Amino acid sequence: MSRSITAVIGLAMVYLVGHTCEGGEAFACDPKDGRTKSMGFCKESEGIAERVKEVIGRLTMEEKVRMLVNNAAGVPRLGIKGYEWWSEGLHGVSNVGPGVNFNSQFPAATSFPQVITTAASFNASLWEAIGQVVSDEARAMYNGGTAGLTYWSPNVNIFRDPRWGRGQETPGEDPVLAGTYAASYVRGLQGTDANRLKVAACCKHFTAYDLDNWNGMDRFHFNAQVSKQDIEDTFNVPFRMCVSEGKVASVMCSYNQVNGVPTCADPNLLKKTVRGLWQLDGYIVSDCDSVSVFYSNQHYTLTPEEAAADAIKAGLDLNCGPFLAVHTQNAIKKGLLSEADVNGALVNTLTVQMRLGMFDGEPSAHPYGNLGPKDVCKPAHQELALEAARQGIVLLKNTGPVLPLSTQRHRSVAVIGPNSKATVTMIGNYAGVACGYTSPLQGIGNYARTIHEFGCENVACKDEKHFGAAINAAREADATVLVMGLDQSIEAETVDRRGLILPGRQQDLVWKVAAASKGPTILVLMCGGPVDISFAKNNPAIVGILWAGYPGQAGGAAIADILFGTASPGGKLPVTWYPEEYIRKLAMTNMAMRGSKSAGYPGRTYRFYNGPVVYPFGHGLTYTHFVHTLASAPTVVSVPLNGHRRGNLTSLSNTNRAIRVTHARCDKLSITLQVDIKNVGSRDGTHTLLVFSAPPAPSAAHHWQLQKQLVAFQKLHVPAKAQHRVRLDIHVCKLLSVVDKSGIRRIPLGEHSFHIGDVKHSVSLQAAPLGIIKS
Ligand SMILES: *[C@@H]1O[C@H](CO)[C@@H](O)[C@H](O)[C@H]1NC(C)=O
Ligand SMILES: *[C@@H]1O[C@H](CO)[C@@H](O)[C@H](O)[C@H]1NC(C)=O
Repeated sequence: MSRSITAVIGLAMVYLVGHTCEGGEAFACDPKDGRTKSMGFCKESEGIAERVKEVIGRLTMEEKVRMLVNNAAGVPRLGIKGYEWWSEGLHGVSNVGPGVNFNSQFPAATSFPQVITTAASFNASLWEAIGQVVSDEARAMYNGGTAGLTYWSPNVNIFRDPRWGRGQETPGEDPVLAGTYAASYVRGLQGTDANRLKVAACCKHFTAYDLDNWNGMDRFHFNAQVSKQDIEDTFNVPFRMCVSEGKVASVMCSYNQVNGVPTCADPNLLKKTVRGLWQLDGYIVSDCDSVSVFYSNQHYTLTPEEAAADAIKAGLDLNCGPFLAVHTQNAIKKGLLSEADVNGALVNTLTVQMRLGMFDGEPSAHPYGNLGPKDVCKPAHQELALEAARQGIVLLKNTGPVLPLSTQRHRSVAVIGPNSKATVTMIGNYAGVACGYTSPLQGIGNYARTIHEFGCENVACKDEKHFGAAINAAREADATVLVMGLDQSIEAETVDRRGLILPGRQQDLVWKVAAASKGPTILVLMCGGPVDISFAKNNPAIVGILWAGYPGQAGGAAIADILFGTASPGGKLPVTWYPEEYIRKLAMTNMAMRGSKSAGYPGRTYRFYNGPVVYPFGHGLTYTHFVHTLASAPTVVSVPLNGHRRGNLTSLSNTNRAIRVTHARCDKLSITLQVDIKNVGSRDGTHTLLVFSAPPAPSAAHHWQLQKQLVAFQKLHVPAKAQHRVRLDIHVCKLLSVVDKSGIRRIPLGEHSFHIGDVKHSVSLQAAPLGIIKS
């Protein structure tokens, strides 16, 4: 989304005035409106497809094109009101889009941790539970006439480069983690009844969008050069999982070009891949206003009519921004587009509105019609926001162990740092108005007497003016907690970072305070993207480090609960924390995931980069100790081939031993691992089990060059001294496949090595002997 849209939108506002629903009013098919009774599209007994066809049959061309934009005009003669498609709900109902307005009846909504923090919980049921709460609150606000039903969330782009300002909005750098997050959150938002959507979610920004503004290049002009291999095994994975597993009702195309074609004008990406291959049941929307951007900024077409025609013909159904309402009719007049193309787009948007129940009369008659103000910010929702922060916070360092702190021995705590009293900083971007906040200072104040000093005026920390007071506080207190990090002035939409270290004099403050502290010094980092904190990792005077991400409205309470041990840390980093030198070796504009020794290019993310790190992907300590034992696992697994490969195993020469996934019988082909997890410490704890697999060495022919990939994760509570068995089913075709240079997914035959916590186990994949293949 972009603020630049406002410039363009001015002109179109006049053009597109449509009034949206007042509280509790029907969007269409109002039972109080006598005219609509006889209209076929209002007959709930009819199928959705018939009703959509019926309504489109009644519309004039002029009415149709004014429905192709986010601020869709109504059709008063048919009793259809205008509708604002643009609402946001990334981690709580947000007023970043014009579809949501907070008012006296709905002054606020539950503000969950930013997605990067929630992702660190590695708990898929938490992601779904958050989606359920957000959609409860969204439906309640829709019923009150102050929110839409179409939410352009989540953002599931891969967090490819640590400098990306919007990395905080994403579930991190791993495609399977991001895809699982997408499918779970979308299920929570939409509910599980496909024809009665609770709200419609949207996975964005398709695809290879992960640069906002770096070194003179911005997202409106960026042409991402992406290899077939990287697009198939990295950039598209979360979108595919969102559509095919999460059944999302919408996908948004991005601003950037991919290999010279704007994503919103690329039929290969939209029609062929999202709608054809993945079978999107829903609508494709542009970013705001990416159609105008590829015409005006990228000069991809000579005329605006060509841009409108290209977008719709590529598979775009809805335009965020006015462009299509202004130019589509002329595109048809010029013969660049047909009315049937426009009808095709409307089928997709109107079908989603029907599935949302928008043509079924008053909101109060809907299955969610009873949700109202009492369901927003209610205690159970706010409790889940606190719980989500506790589950996502990551313990990076704990020497001694000095953590958790004790209310007996640490009766006074010096709370220092520019984020020590954070409130709005804790909710990151794409937030709304929170129900209330607990800052770190307040949270710690629930456990101990606090001595508070900011140390720096803000996160930029330009000078040492306030260092003296901070040092004095640390000299007096039984323990010192420094709450440092970033905020939206350093990393945000349109703001990529230039470096990875803490801004200004923050490091100096931490050093000086740690050296002077009477008690143990703990560093708490509030930031979305990774920070190079080698200085603190290697400093013995800093005994504990927590990463809180942007922990949401209750973040300070969660930080304090972890510090004092009333909650146990179990989060794991969803991104690699690189040293500062790393980014000097690669331009943010270089999209390549795989490294190149000859080019001095180190590669990206734990899957392809194997140089030094500050903390690796998946790092995270607990207050206890877990031991893994493999209880059962196969050592050899046969991969059956499907019919048309019968009799031709000889073609799998030794240099070519990787079967195309499309040639394997993938149904139910999985590897089951059973792992015993024993908590050998003296405290109850939460264990986050991550399982990686490393494929056999790449063949010369296929060149997959993948070091390892996440294939399963599972979170579980294990009381002290107890042991739990975990069963993991790893789908061979989906999770053990690799992608070759031509973008073809293959299952490498040979030894796959599993890393299950600290246990290693190899499974040999072999092509099934012909005898056992039956058709
Ligand atoms: C077997 O594979 C080879 C090499 O790919 C191919 O040339 C041949 O036509 C295949 N034979 C059958 C029966 O499919
Ligand atoms: C995962 O999240 C859900 C929802 O908050 C929670 O009930 C469950 O205990 C969590 N699992 C673990 C192991 O923490």
